[in-house]
Amino acid sequence: MTVDLVVENCTVVTPAGRTPDAGVAVEDGTIAAVGRPEQLPDADRAFDADGAVLVPGIVDCHIHNREPGLEYKEDWESATRAAAAGGVTTVVGMPNTDPVIDRPDHLALKFERGEAGAHVDFQSYVVVTSENLGLIPDLDEAGALGFKIFLGSTVGDVPPPNDGEILEAMAAIAETGKRLGFHEENGEIIDHYTERFQAEGKTDPIDHAHSRPVIAEREAVERMITFAAETGTKIHMFHVSSGSAAEAVARGKGRGVDVTAETTPHYLWFTEDVLREKGNPARIQPPIRDAEERQRLWDVGMDEGAIDCIATDHAPHTPEEKMVDNPFGNTWDAISGFVGLETEVPVMLTFVDEGRLTLEEWVYRHATRPAQVWGMYPKKGSLQVGTDADFTIVDPDREWTLASSDELHSKNSVSPFVGESFVGKPVATVVRGEVVFEDGDVVGESGYGTRVDVDDSSAE
Ligand code: DOR
Ligand code: ZN
Repeated sequence: MTVDLVVENCTVVTPAGRTPDAGVAVEDGTIAAVGRPEQLPDADRAFDADGAVLVPGIVDCHIHNREPGLEYKEDWESATRAAAAGGVTTVVGMPNTDPVIDRPDHLALKFERGEAGAHVDFQSYVVVTSENLGLIPDLDEAGALGFKIFLGSTVGDVPPPNDGEILEAMAAIAETGKRLGFHEENGEIIDHYTERFQAEGKTDPIDHAHSRPVIAEREAVERMITFAAETGTKIHMFHVSSGSAAEAVARGKGRGVDVTAETTPHYLWFTEDVLREKGNPARIQPPIRDAEERQRLWDVGMDEGAIDCIATDHAPHTPEEKMVDNPFGNTWDAISGFVGLETEVPVMLTFVDEGRLTLEEWVYRHATRPAQVWGMYPKKGSLQVGTDADFTIVDPDREWTLASSDELHSKNSVSPFVGESFVGKPVATVVRGEVVFEDGDVVGESGYGTRVDVDDSSAE
């Protein structure tokens, strides 16, 4: 038997362990075999990984790809070009676009644009507001990966439903079997402190962070867990930023509520001092927290396991919107969010290098577990024979510094990681058997990426 591709000369790592001097064989875009060289068939193409580490393709379930409607910031093509260059093989887009993804036809438009532009595979959430509660079964039918509710005001101004509407939505979503994720910040607390700080003339980037205190996040987590215990809905906490919120997630899991959670590389890497050092480019919602909260996020979230997934919250904005030329100017004039797709793998590999987690634990949180949480497993996030041949190939020892945002592939690449140094870098990205990134270049074609069909995958 001769297959299409064999990736050879690598250490294969999955959550179950590692196999040195191994390779993977690919036929028709799916995995035909994984093993030692003598166990692999002949292939039309051999890709020499040169001793690198091969893992199941990284799955980033939280990106703002901005299309449709906000293409001046980013679009499917540019977001997934960054994904390919960042070693990410599957992305899930957020619904705060224009139009907002709140109806089946809007979701169809988002999928259509993705099919036309994407370099890697993709999916999308749909948003639930007070206006579309009756559409939940239709949005499920239309193929959404999952649902999202914004609990507090954030970029895009999607109005939060009230608690009664949330309970009603949760009951309807429980019927679909899909998961509901939250932007979990208590809007009343945030709005109060924002107005108070503005009235007091506080304008520093750190004031923005303090206007969205940890209690706003923790309370939202606890309230949604209470609601989910009542309705039996599977819920997810996007971008958990604090140890306090991670502890609340842990308590929810302990009660038997099906609550999953993600954190992002920036909450694990930085403390709020980055707002004092780099200013508005580091402004994001929820904000980056103090050292004590970060330590507990590591302890409770990562070491004790409250956090299931790593995702970026990749949120591109123009340099003007991020006030790059005036980083310590009035923070209320700046926008929240920054890119992350090309730094997430290097950040996590740097933590591996520092001994803060193992390669196996990294792969679990960054590929396997996100695919499980959002019902894409084992098609994505595994190296099982017969599943999609998505691989992220990394050099875990490569030392490098992100010298400039110009090195990144997004349309707008403002990032607080500019100037940071890493140990580890993606060297190649393979999506369904096609090499889409290699030797520093995105070599795949726009439009190759396709929507992940979740009907034949098992949700967890
Ligand atoms: O900082 C943020 N930016 N937080 C969000 O919740 C949304 C995101 C965006 O869309 O820019
Ligand atoms: Zn987000």
